[in-house]
Amino acid sequence: MSIATTIAEKAQSMIPLEMQIRGAHMYDKTRRIVTRTDGQKIFTETPIPPVDEVALADIDLSNPFLYRQGMWRSYFERVRNEAPVHFRPESPFGPFWSVTRHADIIAVDKNHEAFSAEPFIIIGKPPRFMDIAMFIAMDPPQHDKQRAAVQGVVAPKNLREMEGLIRSRVREVLDGLPVDEPFDWVNAVSIELTARMLATLLDFPYEDRHKLVEWSDLATSMEEANGGPSDNDKVFREMAAMAQGLSSLWRDKAARTAGGEDPGFDLITMLQSNDDTKDLLDNRPMEFLGNLVLLIVGGNDTTRNSMSGGVLALNQYPDQFEKLKANHDLIPNAVSEIIRWQTPLAYMRRIAKKDVILNGQFIRKGDKVVMWYASGNRDERVFDRPDELIIDRSNARNHIAFGFGVHRCMGNRLAELQLRILWEELLVRFDDIEVVGEPEYAQSNFVRGISKMMVRLSPKQDK
Ligand code: HEM
Repeated sequence: MSIATTIAEKAQSMIPLEMQIRGAHMYDKTRRIVTRTDGQKIFTETPIPPVDEVALADIDLSNPFLYRQGMWRSYFERVRNEAPVHFRPESPFGPFWSVTRHADIIAVDKNHEAFSAEPFIIIGKPPRFMDIAMFIAMDPPQHDKQRAAVQGVVAPKNLREMEGLIRSRVREVLDGLPVDEPFDWVNAVSIELTARMLATLLDFPYEDRHKLVEWSDLATSMEEANGGPSDNDKVFREMAAMAQGLSSLWRDKAARTAGGEDPGFDLITMLQSNDDTKDLLDNRPMEFLGNLVLLIVGGNDTTRNSMSGGVLALNQYPDQFEKLKANHDLIPNAVSEIIRWQTPLAYMRRIAKKDVILNGQFIRKGDKVVMWYASGNRDERVFDRPDELIIDRSNARNHIAFGFGVHRCMGNRLAELQLRILWEELLVRFDDIEVVGEPEYAQSNFVRGISKMMVRLSPKQDK
């Protein structure tokens, strides 16, 4: 390690996290004023033309409005069929390759020797200083060490412990919903349940749980990173608040454990009882923040949008809804199919570490490679009638929404558990969940988000 790095690390560990972020904010603001980019939007929404009016080479799959405008299916279908490994020389995020077929995506995701997850897994890059190190964007061996420190939080034993708590929280939320009148499902159910789950995972003060959602939403919506609408000043302010909130959570937990309180099954306890990570906040504060943000972000948009996407899909395919109501044993398979259909994260990106040939295309060392899970999950070579939701589809579990290889989603079992419980509890309470009007979709090329969806519930007659 160089002397400069040692000094930088020492300085980092001596200055409180939130002060470091405030300093970074001042730097970023000055930079924006000097470069006259303050307040400038990068993206303005314009109607996207039908795909057959665009030359293959001009297709830009990074357009953050493709999903919102419902154009993504036709665009990906054409690229999958005509140029499955597609090069886009120019985009607001620079040149990049798109990998769009199921088999090719798995080949890239499994090959961390040739394709690096560093330094970011989004197509662009976050504003300077917002690029906190997280193990989702690290290669082995560093990745493996950091993942090992936290993965106990979602180990089968822990999930069994959590199941009862998740169920009681789901029941509480569902029993408080209005019936026979429209309300926003996203706010009342998807966001509320995800916030409760995140507070449980972190043993975060329950009454403040919505802060976790706000922080996570800000961290995943950055124009330069993925085309999401963002306000850099707000992001920095909230990141400082988050650093402060999570640091005091850590210190409070340590004091309670020292005072003889039983250790819980939450993430903070997990990190504090592991030799490698017990001094994380004091010695490597940015890594501390990165690990916690990853867990919060990882479990936020993804589960939320699967909860909303499931209701939407079952409304678009009412025969499947009837099938599910008639046979609750289909719920586990339906959950996998809903995750395939929604694919809450559109992609992960990699950088080629060496020259590689992929499906006939020559990818040069250093090139950016985007694995479009959203496309692979609609690949007609693997899934019959891929755009349809078929809850008893025999290969629903072959979806790639959780990725593959060393980075395969750490929370996949937890996400499935939450969704299974949600549907079990919904089906015993309501005869119908009717989507009223058109849902609203998020602006992003990364998160496939449903931002608002009005629904009307019909209670079960025999309840
Ligand atoms: C339906 C819900 C979810 C989906 C679709 C999803 C999707 C993903 C994807 C695509 C990856 C990257 C995989 C790769 O690069 O190969 C990932 C990684 C990750 N997810 Fe999830 N996720 C979900 C739920 C969760 C939950 C609930 C948590 C919280 C515990 C979580 C925590 C993580 C973490 C920590 C990683 C990084 C793993 C690593 O780099 O080793 N995810 N997820």
